[in-house]
Amino acid sequence: MRRLGILLSGRGSNFLAIHRAIADGRIQDAEIAVVISNKPEAGGLEAARSLGLTALAIPQEGKGQAARQAHDARVITALSDFNVDLVCLAGYMRIISPAFVAAFSNRILNIHPSLLPAFPGLDAQHQALEYGVKVAGCTVHFVDEAVDHGVIVLQKTVPVLDDDTADTLSARVLEQEHIAYPEAISYVLSGRFHIVGRRYLPL
Ligand code: GRF
Repeated sequence: MRRLGILLSGRGSNFLAIHRAIADGRIQDAEIAVVISNKPEAGGLEAARSLGLTALAIPQEGKGQAARQAHDARVITALSDFNVDLVCLAGYMRIISPAFVAAFSNRILNIHPSLLPAFPGLDAQHQALEYGVKVAGCTVHFVDEAVDHGVIVLQKTVPVLDDDTADTLSARVLEQEHIAYPEAISYVLSGRFHIVGRRYLPL
């Protein structure tokens, strides 16, 4: 049984999609070992508790580089304490440190609501509308030391409609996120892939 650690900062709809996929067998031989949020008030923590999962709030204490590093160290310790095999960032609104990436080398996934490398960072759907793209989507990727940059596991697309707002586009992308993240986790846990350069290729 592989153990997932979920990191989130908000409502946690991607976390819930992962939970559903484990329950209905789309992700096999896996369990959610712990859900961690840097925001104690995150809806995702509450949702995790009501599902009977272990949910921890680990807020950053203080400001500055030392405080960031101390926070990351606490999160790494918690993930290790729960014997986590794969870390899934699911709306985790923090940039994780190189030490964190190294501690879970090739074992951290993230989901981003754009077709990377377009529109990294915040407000991806707003960026997409401003740019005028006709196709948008989401990306599940391994996390490396750069923001929204690691090897891409899979992407899903949606059309951008003429009357879209950031909200309507986000909702359309989010539906695909909830399909994409479980699919990507299942692929990665199967181990049936290799990485050539930046390319994730099935075996
Ligand atoms: C999602 O759009 C995800 O792609 C981005 O943050 C949002 C989190 O939403 N990284 P939720 O908390 O999973 O509902």
